[in-house]
Amino acid sequence: MNDVIIERHRTGEDLTAALRRDVREGLSAPQKWLPATWFYDARGSDLFEQITALPEYYPTRAEREVLLREAPAIAAATGARTLVELGAGSSEKTRALLDALRSAGTLTGFVPQDVSASALTEAAEAIAADYPDLVVHGVVGDFTVNLGELPGTPPRVVAFLGGTIGNFPPAERATFLRSVREVLKPGEWLLLGTDLVKDPATLVAAYDDARGVTAEFNRNVLTVLNSRLGADADPADFEHVAAWDAEHEWIEMRLRARRDLVVHVPGAGLDVEFREGEHLRTEVSAKFRPDGVRAELADAGFTREHWWTDEANRFGVSLARAV
Ligand code: SAH
Ligand code: AVI
Repeated sequence: MNDVIIERHRTGEDLTAALRRDVREGLSAPQKWLPATWFYDARGSDLFEQITALPEYYPTRAEREVLLREAPAIAAATGARTLVELGAGSSEKTRALLDALRSAGTLTGFVPQDVSASALTEAAEAIAADYPDLVVHGVVGDFTVNLGELPGTPPRVVAFLGGTIGNFPPAERATFLRSVREVLKPGEWLLLGTDLVKDPATLVAAYDDARGVTAEFNRNVLTVLNSRLGADADPADFEHVAAWDAEHEWIEMRLRARRDLVVHVPGAGLDVEFREGEHLRTEVSAKFRPDGVRAELADAGFTREHWWTDEANRFGVSLARAV
């Protein structure tokens, strides 16, 4: 097996400090909230992988369908020497891209990046074992902070898959897309996966599965709070809620307190009171329309050159060039 390089741009202490800041801001707000990043410790990454196999959770299968069909076109259009993947997770679907870029003879390096050290290391090692001619340079980092430090020989394709772009609120989404544009040279590429607006019943079922895996994933944010900041939240005190917000066109995941309670968070110097029925928003997952995605890419300095969807029109993939 070729050597895997794993670089750490985010240490455990960096993460704890970032969570402390987010907790102080989000859990003292009148409508409590936390950014969606905090699901993903080793257990959270495992639970997400289980979600991707659930019958109700169509986005992974729909995006895989597009990638398998269009990977040769992506390879031909981009001639990429480096594939960078942000929020890479297990990089399972990404193998379709690696296969096509390798067949095209251009690819020399793969740079998966993720904030979850366990998911990143496991994925980087598995890919290095299966693609021995590729330099695999994994980066443990935060895509809202560490983009400027990503390695790789141009021309590069930055892949941001799974619909993770939808987990940013709109203003942060625009900032993120601009920051990706800033680290690319004109002519380099962004491959962006976006889940599409569809009937609310399908959407809500995808975020409230019958087996309760998504509920466990949602409650995992409390476990992360306990382990990183010494909090005493009992996940059993919170009920999983998934709701479609038709005005913002996003799914909102929340945790609803089952009783009046206080969560002590010594690592943030905070005692957080919940009234029975009070909600903590843990995630937004925005759903998109084709023209909206094109416009957001253009605002960030990209021209969309291709737009593909799965047969059932559930999920869209954009290939956009930095201008
Ligand atoms: N791209 C994969 C995984 C999506 S799950 C797929 O399509 O299936 C979202 C991934 O983003 C998780 O692996 C999570 O650890 C990672 N992530 C979340 N917030 C992040 C951040 N701020 N910086 C880097 N990675 C992040
Ligand atoms: C990673 N992200 C795109 C997933 C989503 O669908 O928003 C996270 C997730 N949340 C609940 N289920 C899956």
